[in-house]
Amino acid sequence: MSRLVVVSNRVAPIDEGKQSAGGLAVAVLAALKKTGGIWFGWSGDVVAAPPSAPSLTPVGKLTYATLDLAKRDYEEYYNGYANSTLWPLFHFRLGLTNFNRRNYAGYQRVNALFASKLAPLLQPDDMVWVHDYHLIPFGEQLRLIGMGHRMGFFLHTPFPAPELLVALPNHADIVRALCAYDVVGFHTTTDLRCFINYIRFEARGTVTERPDGEGYFINAFGRTLVARSFPISIDTEPLVTLAKQAARTRQTERLRESLVGRDLIIGVDRLDYSKGLPQRFESFHCLLENYPANRGHVSFLQIAPPSRSDVPEYIAIRKELETLSGHINGRFAEFDWVPIRYLNKSFTRRSLAGFFRVSAVGLVTPLRDGMNLVAKEYVACQDPEDPGVLVLSRFAGAAEELGDALIVNPYDIESVADALQRALTMPLDERKARYNAMMEVLRRNDISVWRENFVTALAGAPYDS
Ligand code: G6P
Repeated sequence: MSRLVVVSNRVAPIDEGKQSAGGLAVAVLAALKKTGGIWFGWSGDVVAAPPSAPSLTPVGKLTYATLDLAKRDYEEYYNGYANSTLWPLFHFRLGLTNFNRRNYAGYQRVNALFASKLAPLLQPDDMVWVHDYHLIPFGEQLRLIGMGHRMGFFLHTPFPAPELLVALPNHADIVRALCAYDVVGFHTTTDLRCFINYIRFEARGTVTERPDGEGYFINAFGRTLVARSFPISIDTEPLVTLAKQAARTRQTERLRESLVGRDLIIGVDRLDYSKGLPQRFESFHCLLENYPANRGHVSFLQIAPPSRSDVPEYIAIRKELETLSGHINGRFAEFDWVPIRYLNKSFTRRSLAGFFRVSAVGLVTPLRDGMNLVAKEYVACQDPEDPGVLVLSRFAGAAEELGDALIVNPYDIESVADALQRALTMPLDERKARYNAMMEVLRRNDISVWRENFVTALAGAPYDS
């Protein structure tokens, strides 16, 4: 069995008690725990003079190899090209997409630097699995310095429609870099279709369905690779067990007591403009306006830990939400009831599992999202005898698999309020039927299936004949 070398910008905290807010780190950690290997990436620290070699920390079968970033690299690569150019563009937000050559050069420079630091750690038979938009050119950079390994790439965000992608000045370089991998994976068939359309109509490459139906062969930029969707998932059974235990913790009990019999709607998201939080707050506002019986009887808990707080668009969304939550609470609150509990901090997985279990409704309404694991986690944490209802945006990747949620269009504020009302009044039989159907999906496709499918596809490389 080849060793797996995973590369991602964000690496899960080595101390698991300290939870990271991002879906990538949580999922990759769950996927790597059993198999072991190397996890290479950014340490999360920004320093004046980064050490020349990665710092190595073995934890069980896994070795973390992390690098610090210099201030300029953090600005140009992370805040700049990754999070002010690719992130908004890949979430279909052309209006928020900023491009400049300095950041693009920084992005390429850091990818080349990271590749040069990983190369000495590689053994000949290793499989290299690179994750997410920060590191698209990483594989191409490894190949440039002579590494002939099997290399795969998985994108955790949506892939934009080609009509949007071509607005990026260096779009052809970015897609050419993707084609340097042997396997390129996406969450959904929609993302895969967008990629294929770019290959066909922009890159003038060829796309052939694989005889086994497992994705497509892509011929473009002088290479042959496989492109396929691999919907990411959660470690279902351990989470079901955790939620059962968490239902009885003191903290969960405190939340229950604070509700004094009221229903709770919960949202948990990084504070990010892709998550549709202003629209979500407006939808809750609309629920209270249009269905006044909920006033005093339903609370909405939104947990939104701050994220990428040096990027101006994130500073702006934070201000907007503070104003909006203040406005809604000012309009509806009573001396003994606050409609929105808005928290800018993160909680451990155990705490969240307990909170999900107590909540009658999980509200997951991104404007665009790669997968959204919170949707899956909310379902897995429910009490099978009295499950809550998931209200889910059609624009989350999870909607492709979780069709038994109440699927909504987050831009349509009134219809989301209607869905909330339907969720809050849904009979037990229907709640159970929907829950069971979704759990069937989560049991069939858990995180190990995701890992195994990707690794198997990569093990079959090279696809160049
Ligand atoms: C998303 C991205 C991940 C990222 C996470 C947290 O899930 O797809 O790559 O790690 O957000 O964002 P951060 O910028 O804190 O790493």
